[in-house]
Amino acid sequence: MNETLLKIDGIEVTAKEGMTILEAARSAGINIPTLCHHEKLAPYGACRICVVEVDAGGRTSLVAACLYPVQPNLVVRTRSEKVDKTRKILLEQFLAHAPDAPALQDLAREYGADKDRFEKEASFCILCGLCVRYCAEVKKKNAVGFVDRGSSREISFIPEIASKECWNCKECFPLCPTSYLQAAYHLTEALAFPRDPFKSMSGK
Ligand code: SF4
Ligand code: FES
Repeated sequence: MNETLLKIDGIEVTAKEGMTILEAARSAGINIPTLCHHEKLAPYGACRICVVEVDAGGRTSLVAACLYPVQPNLVVRTRSEKVDKTRKILLEQFLAHAPDAPALQDLAREYGADKDRFEKEASFCILCGLCVRYCAEVKKKNAVGFVDRGSSREISFIPEIASKECWNCKECFPLCPTSYLQAAYHLTEALAFPRDPFKSMSGK
């Protein structure tokens, strides 16, 4: 496979053709934050927290590192005023939905994001799609999916599938950046397919 030379944060990085900026950066030990990326899943581009600044052909632009393919002589900045400002605003929007999520709070500290900047819409889910895509692409079960559109969009377990498939899997739980997923599962289980009446009553 052909190799491509690019520059990330002033460091020359050799990447394989077809790699994304995120993959090239990680191969060189350079950190770019992500919320919707998972190495086993197809790139999705939902959260945009992986935004970086690129210079290509004399033009500077902001792109999603998890989607953008490496190119010869590409110059990438993983931190800049514009990048940090964009990440800060994104985090402030996510925190309006999930103000107590530790993964978001850690990033908020790093980028100076104010969790109270936007009015709270505590949906607790930031629609990263990790749970839905992991269940579909890796487990091939589709036990959790998106329902509704626009501002009403949310994830929902499909009780008929979840009751058979989830109880001994739960591989999606640790992927969720807000821990909403676990709560949604236990609610579905309690309402639609309680496995153990005592367990459902105690909320565990
Ligand atoms: S429940 Fe969690 S993993 Fe699933 S879409 Fe929402 S934030 Fe992402
Ligand atoms: S990690 Fe790139 S858009 Fe979410």
